[in-house]
Amino acid sequence: MNNNKFTPNSIVVGDVLETLRSIPNDIIDLTVTSPPYNKRNKSHGWLVTNEKYSHFDDHIPEEKYQQLQIAVLDEIFRITKPGGSLFYNHKHRWTNGVLINPFSWLVNTKWTIKQELIWDRVIAANMRGWRFWQIDERIYWLYKPKDNYLIGKELESMHAKFASIWHMRPEHRTNSHPAPFPIELPTRIIYSILTSKNCIVMDPFCGTGTTLVAAKLLGHRYFGIDVSPEYVKHAIERLEKSEDEKNRLQKEKLKHVIEDSFAARKKRGTISWPYGPKLDNDSTKKK
Ligand SMILES: C[S@@+](CC[C@H](N)C(=O)[O-])C[C@H]1O[C@@H](n2cnc3c(N)ncnc32)[C@H](O)[C@@H]1O
Repeated sequence: MNNNKFTPNSIVVGDVLETLRSIPNDIIDLTVTSPPYNKRNKSHGWLVTNEKYSHFDDHIPEEKYQQLQIAVLDEIFRITKPGGSLFYNHKHRWTNGVLINPFSWLVNTKWTIKQELIWDRVIAANMRGWRFWQIDERIYWLYKPKDNYLIGKELESMHAKFASIWHMRPEHRTNSHPAPFPIELPTRIIYSILTSKNCIVMDPFCGTGTTLVAAKLLGHRYFGIDVSPEYVKHAIERLEKSEDEKNRLQKEKLKHVIEDSFAARKKRGTISWPYGPKLDNDSTKKK
């Protein structure tokens, strides 16, 4: 193992795999991340100019890309505490008409796939007529079992009330980065998953540091990696001024409320559930 590059509340400028390989086993509580998607810089037919990163070309042979993703995911597994989770954002892509589903490499990692969440981004920059407008991405909840128990702990009711489809607009590209998270996304994950303070939250493709800012504001320690010194500089500036982002974080937290818990509802025998979407065309309604 190389010299350990992990220090709590820091960001490493460097290569993800090389950095992860330097870190000891079983120390991370939760990872929230989005790697580059190997989108191969296609530009034809796009509504806006394509996403381009500052320090690497998002264009490698797909097989090599998937091998790299597996290696990174397995390193994150190694350094995650048993019972810890990884939320991995990706999306479906097509090459020459053939669908590439992230499951094709996720099933070859050491992780237990706990859930596939759909991120409805409401809007997306790439619009072409080959298929219906793809505005969804995926967030895979991956779990490192503890004592061979694959299921893990239950979420608290105030978090588990969220459905498996999350409607969140993407962040505006107001800074130099092409694809930052909206802060509500890592906030929802970290707030839901970590039940005690001062845990270690990692983003190994941290970009402008959105996950790290959310972790800090929620009372945790953070660790980030990114190959781009520009993005890391931006992330450090954000972390220094993290209080500026508190309002958005607070608004997300306020959505995590319930009148009573699952257990109380079960005991009372209430079957109606107030959180379901209201459908205009609900044919079960009495006329
Ligand atoms: C989708 S972006 C992440 C954006 C981030 N979630 C945010 O909120 O700003 C992916 C990031 O991976 C970084 N990256 C690409 N290849 C890398 C590598 N080999 N090692 C470390 N970081 C890498 C890019 O610089 C980019 O910032």
